[in-house]
Amino acid sequence: MTDDVNMEQIEFWNGDHGTAWARYAEIIDVMFAEITDAVLDAAAISVGDRVLDLGCGNGGTTLAAADKVTPIGSVTAIDISAPMLERAQERAGAAGLVNATFILGDASIYPFAERSFDAMVSRLGAMFFDDPEETFRRMLPALDSRGRIALGVWRGPRENLWAMGPVAAAKDFLEMPPRPGLEDPGPFSFADPDRVRSVLGNAGLTDIKLAPLDFQIPLGGSLEEALNFVMEMGPLSAPLSTVTGDNRQKAIAAITNVLKENQDEYGIVRLAGACWIITARTA
Ligand SMILES: C[S@@+](CC[C@H](N)C(=O)[O-])C[C@H]1O[C@@H](n2cnc3c(N)ncnc32)[C@H](O)[C@@H]1O
Repeated sequence: MTDDVNMEQIEFWNGDHGTAWARYAEIIDVMFAEITDAVLDAAAISVGDRVLDLGCGNGGTTLAAADKVTPIGSVTAIDISAPMLERAQERAGAAGLVNATFILGDASIYPFAERSFDAMVSRLGAMFFDDPEETFRRMLPALDSRGRIALGVWRGPRENLWAMGPVAAAKDFLEMPPRPGLEDPGPFSFADPDRVRSVLGNAGLTDIKLAPLDFQIPLGGSLEEALNFVMEMGPLSAPLSTVTGDNRQKAIAAITNVLKENQDEYGIVRLAGACWIITARTA
């Protein structure tokens, strides 16, 4: 693999999108808490483990893993996004963590030392690699014998109404970007179980399993919070940032309707999320 892989992703996660993710760190951790728990349980993370967190973002999973491995284990977290990694480091500092190390770098080419980890985990990170098969093949020597992998990834867009419900409502008023190919880096590139088995199997992993995780994702404690989230994060943020006039008003009204329909008696807006929790191990 050459050094110019993942350039689009590096640009994307260091631009406005990465800054927005950094701003939403705490909210994202609440939204995706069930994925964090499922990934760390699936990898059986416990005291003493040496863990690698791939695409750690704002460090939500890193912090939770560091808590589980303490006092003798450690977590190394890597991400290409400078704004998110900075946020992760701040949060680790504020929590007084001494067993977490953060690397600003591309997991697909980073020279991890051989056999330096017992487990690799990722919450919603593995789907963004340009060449996931080659990335995992390169990373596997960093795992110790019988090393574990657990990845939380999205299933298909139709099942993920938290992202696609607002899109379906507003798309007619917006200029949506072309849909990425099924295997292009992006949130849904690990949705197909056959592809996941092929990518990880060819990379050298064994005992590959996919377990569904279905849950309701809280998009906000009020309509306003949920609307802000949809407008700043996720698939509508870019098209909404360029639309003006009547179409903008119509798009916002359509999104608001969907959010209202999914608001509970306490005002919390929740929409369906659907993941695979993928587990595998080295031979
Ligand atoms: C959807 S975000 C998830 C972040 C975090 N794991 C979470 O759950 O909040 C995907 C993350 O993967 C990171 N990422 C994408 N490609 C990467 C690569 N090649 N190496 C390291 N990190 C990468 C992005 O910068 C981003 O932080």
